[in-house]
Amino acid sequence: MTKSNRRSFLKTATAAGAAAFIAPQISSATPSSVTKQPKDEVSIAFIGCGGRGRGHLKRAAMTEGVKIVAFCDIDPEAIPKAQKVLTDNGHSEAEVYSDGEYAYLEMLKRDDIDGVIIATPWLWHTRMAVAVMKSGKYAAVEVSAANTMEECWDLVNTSEETGMPCMILENVNYRRDVLAVLNMVKQGVFGEVVHARCGYRHSLLNVKFNKDLKFGEGAKGEARWRTQHSLKQNADVYPTHGLGPIAAMLDINRGNRFLYLTSTASKAVGLKDYIQEQGGEDHPAAKLPWKQGDVITSVIKTTNGETIIVTHDTNLPRPYSLDFHVEGTDGVTNFHGGGKNIAVEEEGGHKWDDFQKWQDKYDHPLWKKYGEKAMGSGHGGMDFFVTREFINAVKEQRQPVMDVYDAAAWSAVTPLSEASIAQGSAPQYFPDFTRGNWIKRKPITFE
Ligand SMILES: NC(=O)c1ccc[n+]([C@@H]2O[C@H](COP(=O)([O-])OP(=O)(O)OC[C@H]3O[C@@H](n4cnc5c(N)ncnc54)[C@H](O)[C@@H]3O)[C@@H](O)[C@H]2O)c1
Repeated sequence: MTKSNRRSFLKTATAAGAAAFIAPQISSATPSSVTKQPKDEVSIAFIGCGGRGRGHLKRAAMTEGVKIVAFCDIDPEAIPKAQKVLTDNGHSEAEVYSDGEYAYLEMLKRDDIDGVIIATPWLWHTRMAVAVMKSGKYAAVEVSAANTMEECWDLVNTSEETGMPCMILENVNYRRDVLAVLNMVKQGVFGEVVHARCGYRHSLLNVKFNKDLKFGEGAKGEARWRTQHSLKQNADVYPTHGLGPIAAMLDINRGNRFLYLTSTASKAVGLKDYIQEQGGEDHPAAKLPWKQGDVITSVIKTTNGETIIVTHDTNLPRPYSLDFHVEGTDGVTNFHGGGKNIAVEEEGGHKWDDFQKWQDKYDHPLWKKYGEKAMGSGHGGMDFFVTREFINAVKEQRQPVMDVYDAAAWSAVTPLSEASIAQGSAPQYFPDFTRGNWIKRKPITFE
């Protein structure tokens, strides 16, 4: 088959549904089943109304057919801010659950809640999502969904046992350029994909430390909890922003799966350097044994043979980069640093072309339809889509497009990278969270 024939074959196969091409005789199988009737109006509650939780709260409050009767947060400063989001958007104040770290369990006893959005520090994600599912409600959990392998399995086991879905709120899957690349991959622009690269490369120095270098108890914002992970864990603690989009492109858990990874950590000097620059050579925090390597590089091998480089890089002064790269037999795109490029064999393959031209051509239907509405929401518009997908899944009583198996497989990079680094970059195998069903599950379709 010539390259152009193969490309048109790929296009045809995609148009007909790539799943049908992979497994024509087998229907999609998602073990947890949702069989209830669709609802015009749903009641969404929230656990964690910090910066991220209030973003979801606002988008939910602006959505037709959404009632918000309750939320839970233990920070007294977060509560009036969340109530204001509600009243500013035409809702009444909601009932608040704030009496201790397990107050959410009290909220979950209510029978007038359909779904719960969790936007708390990472160590709370899984136990809260498990409690939400056990209470018979839809769970949506911020990234990453789980910290340990046991937690990954807890999410999967609970979803299967209760029949309740658990969505990972990975907004980057909805970025306009990322969705355009997904379209390009599915329509064969890059031929057969061989290699991808992604990451979270973004200085979080002013997130991990307040202005006075405070972190942990008594600090504000994410410095209250996120910084502890840099002190205690040498791991890629935030893999899903990069990996979620690549997983969708490579049909992970849907005809393909992550097989194993190896991870390597650089030295850990960035936080100490920052503390000394801001607080002086002898600042006590500079003497702490910071553990997280400043640049952590993992290489994942998939069962279909692709390799994926995932980078975690948050301790050095640098601008944001998704470090995105997709390369196949017929072309390549990458979003390194500030720029975006694409080169395809059909056009010579040796010169970078303007990405925007290709983005316009392959713009995703979701963006064509809702782009204007989305633009005002967070992170360049992608947040609109992720909150919307959860609400729609609850209304339609269906599995969300990014389901519990995605939550587990993408989040598993954290414990596996930690184990690999600790063992001198030894390979670590991913469990098959789908219990064999990856062979017959249909590819993700963002609608
Ligand atoms: N997808 C994205 O783009 C994105 C962006 C920012 C944050 N996040 C994720 O969202 C989550 C929250 O981040 P954030 O920036 O809002 O952090 P934050 O610290 O601003 O907010 C967390 C909130 O959770 C509350 N909380 C903590 N423990 C609680 C408990 N036991 N019960 C009830 N409430 C509790 C805190 O009081 C706080 O208000 C994190 O997982 C983070 O990684 C995702």
